[in-house]
Amino acid sequence: MSFTADRLLLFGATGDLSQRMLLPSLCALDAEGLVDEKLEIVGTARSDLDDHSFRNFAREALEKFMPANRRGSMATFLNRLRYQSLDASTLEGFDALAKKVGQPEDGLAIFLSTAPSLFEPTIAGLHSAGLADGNVRIGLEKPLGTDLASSCVINDAVASAFSEDRIFRIDHYLGKETVQNLLALRFANIMLEPIWNANYIDHVQITVAETVGLESRVAYYDDSGALRDMVQNHMLQLLSLVAMEPPTSFDATAVRDEKVKVLRALRKVAEGETVTGQYRSGAIGGEAVPGYDEELGKDSDTETFVAIKAHVENWRWKGVPFYLRTGKRMPKRTTEIVIQFRPIPHSIFGGKGAKSEPNRLVIGIQPEENITLRMMAKVPGLDRDGIRLRSVPLDIAMPDAFVGQHKRIAYERLLLDLVEGDQTLFVRRDEVEAQWDWIDAIRAGWEEQGLTPKTYTAGSWGPSAAIALAERDGVTWHE
Ligand code: BG6
Repeated sequence: MSFTADRLLLFGATGDLSQRMLLPSLCALDAEGLVDEKLEIVGTARSDLDDHSFRNFAREALEKFMPANRRGSMATFLNRLRYQSLDASTLEGFDALAKKVGQPEDGLAIFLSTAPSLFEPTIAGLHSAGLADGNVRIGLEKPLGTDLASSCVINDAVASAFSEDRIFRIDHYLGKETVQNLLALRFANIMLEPIWNANYIDHVQITVAETVGLESRVAYYDDSGALRDMVQNHMLQLLSLVAMEPPTSFDATAVRDEKVKVLRALRKVAEGETVTGQYRSGAIGGEAVPGYDEELGKDSDTETFVAIKAHVENWRWKGVPFYLRTGKRMPKRTTEIVIQFRPIPHSIFGGKGAKSEPNRLVIGIQPEENITLRMMAKVPGLDRDGIRLRSVPLDIAMPDAFVGQHKRIAYERLLLDLVEGDQTLFVRRDEVEAQWDWIDAIRAGWEEQGLTPKTYTAGSWGPSAAIALAERDGVTWHE
C-alpha cells in the first residue's frame, strides 16, 4: 500500500529504545530535512506526561544520546511531538489515543516496541479504536515471541488487524549501512559472484561480539539467551544476505523471496555442532567486570555465548560450513563476516618463501565499517633465492572512500522506510517462521542432550570448546 504517513505513533515512547535510538533518529532525519514538514509524532507509554513534559523528556534524551552536530536546532523536531499516556493492557485508553492521533491526511505509521505480553491487547486496542484500518501500517520491534509457536500467536494477532503488506517487522541489523553494502558488494560487482560458491569458498565465519554484559535487561535476557536474542534474528539475517541467490531487483518481494529460501535450506544442526557458554568475572579493556551469575544474583542455565556450525543445503553451498558465534563480554565489540576462499589448485612458485595463503574477504560491519581482501603479492627484491610471496590487504576503507558521510543510526533508515512504506529491509512472516523453526530444533537438541553452558572468563573469546569446534575442521576463528 503506497502512501507516506503524515502521523507517526510511537509506543514505548519513554523507554530505553526510544531515548537512545528512535527519538535521536527522528531528530536527525528532521535536522536533515528528510521528513515531510507535515509529519506529526505522537508518543505513548504508561508514564503520566503531557505534550509539554514529553517534549522536555525528549530534549533531555537528545542531549544525552545524540552528538550535538546532528541535532540541528531541535526546536522544529520537538514541535512535532505530542503525547498521550496509555495503559495498553486494557481497551479503555485507546479511544483517547485515537483522538490524540486525530485524522491523518495521508496515513498513519505505528512503531510498536512493547513487552510480548502487551502485543495482543495493543493490537486489539488499536483495532477497536479504528487505528488499524485503511492507511495504517505497523512496525514491530523484537522480541516477537520466544519460539515458533509463540511467534505464530503474535503474528496471527497482528494479521487479524493488519495485512502483511502493512506489517513491518524490524531487525535493526538490516538498517545498518554496511549490511546493505553487503548487497552492493555482491550484486553491483561482476568479479565476486562467479566465485561466490562452494567451488571457491572454503567456509564463512560470522561473528557478533559484544563487550557489554546484562546491562539493565536482567529479566528479558535471562529468559532469552544468546541464541534467541542474537542468532534467531540478526545473525540469520546476515547469513541469508551472504548466502542468497541474486534477487531480480532490490525490491521487497524479490529480496525476501531469496532470503527465505536460504533460511529454509538450513540443515538441522547435529549434536556437537553447537557450543554454549556463560561468562564469569574477568576484565575487559583493563576493567574488572562481574560474572553473569553475579549480575543476575542467582545461578542460571542461560547462554551468553553461542557458536554454531551451520550448513545451507543447496547447490551453491554444498559442504561449506558457516561458523557463527556471538557473545556478551567478549574482548572487543566487533561484527564481521569472513569469507575464506579455497587455496589455489597449483603453485607455480617453488622455494620456501613462496607459500601462498588462500584469499580472504573480511567485511567489517561494526564498529569500523571496512572491507578487506587479502591477496598474495610478491615481496620486492631480486629473488636470488626464489620469489617470495606475502599476503597483503587490499582495503576498501569505507570511511576514506566516502569522507564527509556521517554514521547513521540503523533506525534512521528503518523509520524513514516505515513512514514511506518500503518493506525491503523488513522481515516477512515466512522468514521469521523459518528462523524460529531452525532455532527451536537447536534448543530441542540442547534439551535432549542435557547441554548446559560452559563457563568462560569475561574478556575472552568464549569457552575453549568454541575454538575446538572450528579447529576440528582445521579452521581458526578470525580475530
Ligand atoms: C539487540 C539485542 O537486538 O541487539 C541486544 O537484544 C544486543 O542484546 C543488540 O546488545 C546489539 O545491537 P548492536 O546494533 O549494538 O550490534
